[in-house]
Amino acid sequence: MHVLGIETSCDETSVAVWSPETGLRSMRVLSQMTHRAYGGVVPEIAAREHVNVIELMTREVLEEADITPGEIALVAATRGPGLIGALLVGHTFGKSLAGLLGKPFIGVHHLEGHLYSPLLTRSDLAPPFLGLLVSGGHTELLLVRDWFTYTLLGHTLDDAVGEAFDKVAKLLGLPYPGGPEIDRISRGVDPGDLRFPVPRTPPFHFSFSGLKTAVRYHVERLTPEALEAARPRIAAAFQEAAVEQLMDRLRAAHRDYPTPRVVVAGGVALNTRLREKLARWGEENGVEIFLPEPRFCADNAAMIALAGWLRFSRRGETSLLSETARPSWPLPYEEVNHGAFPAA
Ligand code: KG4
Ligand code: ZN
Repeated sequence: MHVLGIETSCDETSVAVWSPETGLRSMRVLSQMTHRAYGGVVPEIAAREHVNVIELMTREVLEEADITPGEIALVAATRGPGLIGALLVGHTFGKSLAGLLGKPFIGVHHLEGHLYSPLLTRSDLAPPFLGLLVSGGHTELLLVRDWFTYTLLGHTLDDAVGEAFDKVAKLLGLPYPGGPEIDRISRGVDPGDLRFPVPRTPPFHFSFSGLKTAVRYHVERLTPEALEAARPRIAAAFQEAAVEQLMDRLRAAHRDYPTPRVVVAGGVALNTRLREKLARWGEENGVEIFLPEPRFCADNAAMIALAGWLRFSRRGETSLLSETARPSWPLPYEEVNHGAFPAA
């Protein structure tokens, strides 16, 4: 049994063959480098680059998995949310392939892919759990009471946390994407008395634009030489404030919804400081922390194959080939209900 996964929601083209019985068989992830020159993702370029490589990458993963197209049992492609031009490439390619092969197709929610990505390497993840999704486009805290049953507890009121890392990196003169750079230069650095604020927001919500502005004011007061010398300390202080905000909201949500498990996923889940703090908090509070393996944190097609398979196998869901990509697509959230948890 083989699922072909396809992910093209932003600037990573990824195709994978994944099997529910034997796990990941093959995967390609191509991070588009062209955008670096522009300091951010250019949607038109992203779409064109997906077109250039998707067919070849699909041939390569099939070859490496040593299967013929006819042996694909299900095609799963990201339907949204994401950049419309970029999404259309993978989603349309997936539908066309499934149609030609006469195999079922399923359009996958990108965040559902991230949310269940720890299952790629651990089979012991099951609801109920709290999910913290942290990426370049999303910062969401949700309660997963049951499979595919979500309550949105909090979200960012302005920038996503990964976006804040990228913008602050730019202020510090670091290359795009800035998250990994800030992580790298902050390692082992004590920010000393340099502190940036953790804002107050309505419960469980996030805000990162004030933090970014605080860093900007700080940087603007420095000469180029002083910035050069202080860069690691500023990066570390920013990272500390950003990570502490994530932890603060997670701890608060867990007091109200004391689930035995917590999932943290998305590109920012790669952050070293966040992983340290999560591990300590999990140990101290008897909470099992599920983090995807590093290669499954950033956008990848393995998580899309797995999430598609989950809906297909647990719910019997498939998508019509007439379905369209959805650039803005909220997860199907239930009304926020601060009632009893866990249910009696
Ligand atoms: O999930 P992802 O690959 O793409 C989106 O769906 O957005 O996340 C990318 C984001 C970028 O903002 C990147 O700077 C951030 O994740 N990121 C990190 C780290 N690695 C990637 N942020 C902080 N620390 C990292 N080590
Ligand atoms: Zn993502």
